Amino acid sequence: MIRSYKKLFDNNKKWVLDTTTRDEQFFSNLAQGQSPEFLWIGCSDSRVPANDVTGTAPGDIFVHRNIANMVVHTDMSMLSVLDYSVNVLGVKHVMVVGHYGCGGVKAAMGNKQVGLIDNWLRNIKDVYRLHEAELDAIENEDDRFNRLVELNVQEQVFNLTKTSIVQNAWANGKQLQVHGVIYDVHTGLLKDMNISVGDISKVESVYKFDLDYTLQ
Ligand code: CO
Repeated sequence: MIRSYKKLFDNNKKWVLDTTTRDEQFFSNLAQGQSPEFLWIGCSDSRVPANDVTGTAPGDIFVHRNIANMVVHTDMSMLSVLDYSVNVLGVKHVMVVGHYGCGGVKAAMGNKQVGLIDNWLRNIKDVYRLHEAELDAIENEDDRFNRLVELNVQEQVFNLTKTSIVQNAWANGKQLQVHGVIYDVHTGLLKDMNISVGDISKVESVYKFDLDYTLQ
């Protein structure tokens, strides 16, 4: 076996030993099931692992990651994760976590063809177009890049509130909060963007579904 790959299994054994030394019941408790309070929708970037950067343990956060932490309304994988976590696991907080230095956002700012991913990144170009006046007014390219990372998180938070899943949760009286968060790869710090949404009031009228109380 290739050494770097084999090392993962050596590390795993050490982790199991360390963990059970600290807490003998750790795995038997987790084997009973999960009831995480958080859903994390983050970027696939290897530098932004949900549990590590939040000091949480297995069982604490349900995770969905894709390139540039997108909430795309035709993405069955994301919708399934969202539906399951809200309606079965009962998560209370959905966090969209973007990060400065995001390669996906950077690529979306350019015009180079990369491959299949171009079609995915087009969703970020739509965010750019929505905020074109603000972004084009920023002369420094790094600052413009950082701002697009932030605006992309904001739009993905809005996209979550447009889903029937989130709107029905609110209609059924669930305490569900949707948050926008930025991770800074330079400092390791997470920043709440102060754009949390916990009810239907801020959703634009064209996106509001008639209330559905049938899904209890
Ligand atoms: Co990224």
